[in-house]
Amino acid sequence: MKMLLTGGAGYVGSACLRWLIKQGHDPIAYDDLSTGNRAAVPNPARLVVGDILDQEKVEHTIRTHDIETVMHFAAVASVPESIAQPDLYWRVNVLGTKSLLDAMVACEVKTIVFSSTAATFAFTEEMPITEASPQLPETPYGTTKLACEWIIKEYARAYDMGYTIFRYFNACGADAGGDYGENRPEESHLIPLIFAAALGKRDTLKVFGNDFDTRDGSCVRDYIHNDDLAQAHQLAAETLQPGMGRDYNLGSGIGTTVLEVVQACERVTQLSIPYEIAGRRPGDPATLIASSEKAKQELGWKPQYTTVEPIAQTAWDWHSKHPDGYAS
Ligand SMILES: NC(=O)c1ccc[n+]([C@@H]2O[C@H](COP(=O)([O-])OP(=O)(O)OC[C@H]3O[C@@H](n4cnc5c(N)ncnc54)[C@H](O)[C@@H]3O)[C@@H](O)[C@H]2O)c1
Repeated sequence: MKMLLTGGAGYVGSACLRWLIKQGHDPIAYDDLSTGNRAAVPNPARLVVGDILDQEKVEHTIRTHDIETVMHFAAVASVPESIAQPDLYWRVNVLGTKSLLDAMVACEVKTIVFSSTAATFAFTEEMPITEASPQLPETPYGTTKLACEWIIKEYARAYDMGYTIFRYFNACGADAGGDYGENRPEESHLIPLIFAAALGKRDTLKVFGNDFDTRDGSCVRDYIHNDDLAQAHQLAAETLQPGMGRDYNLGSGIGTTVLEVVQACERVTQLSIPYEIAGRRPGDPATLIASSEKAKQELGWKPQYTTVEPIAQTAWDWHSKHPDGYAS
């Protein structure tokens, strides 16, 4: 299937692109490279450099490549940055999604798979979080991603489109072989930050909060390998039809504390990870754990990674081989 992957040079998008090629599909990345990497797309012919807000260019790309379906990964996606710059988040995430949908309507592309997030859910004590859990985001990142969900649903109803919304929990890990992995200009994700500290690329890891109501006081999160996310995208695209509306939470269903992730990374690297306890960050709930039963039952999704240590091993294979990211 010919697919357009906005944000397809980014961390999750490029992992999906590489996965889809292996499954015999024909994906094209459309990415402005603001945080993505050319080198994450194995064949340069599969990358179109452009902004999702440039509707004309999106339409041209869809027509030139006979695109049948869209996977929409492109976004700005950092909670702290969204609190400092909500204007950027509303422009890229919400107006960018609207522009993409307008291009799809103009080109009569009827199906979209959208990357949403656990950050759209309300802070809740009830775990795991299901698709029926209340969505009440606490940060501009979460608010704008929820607004994208709404606009997609409204366009689908008006223009007979089909959608699958995936809400990922914490995406992590790297391709087997260590050739492709996580590499952003400004890193805010835990596992790459841990390995940067292990490799002496930054002084000390900051653990934000050790006074949460969790087993060791640090935040509990649900870590899901990129290849498992990619498998879900493949299954969704292959079954999506106009008129369909589906939403799924994607996580491992296992909660791991920040300090447990640090310990898993120490076992993987055989190195001591220097860390310090810092204050809580705004917008950080104590615990986020997904229920992904719906994706398993309806899509036949079978995630391969269930614990954090093998995921950390794949990430370490990448970081230790590429200490300066794709530049090394
Ligand atoms: N990484 C996670 O843990 C996680 C969790 C939940 C949801 N998500 C969602 O998954 C998606 C991908 O996240 P990621 O971690 O791969 O981030 P990323 O920053 O690696 O990827 C985003 C990509 O979008 C591109 N992009 C940004 N603005 C663009 C624009 N205006 N036009 C074209 N391209 C643009 C960037 O260059 C980058 O390649 C995002 O939508 C994010 O909200 C990620």
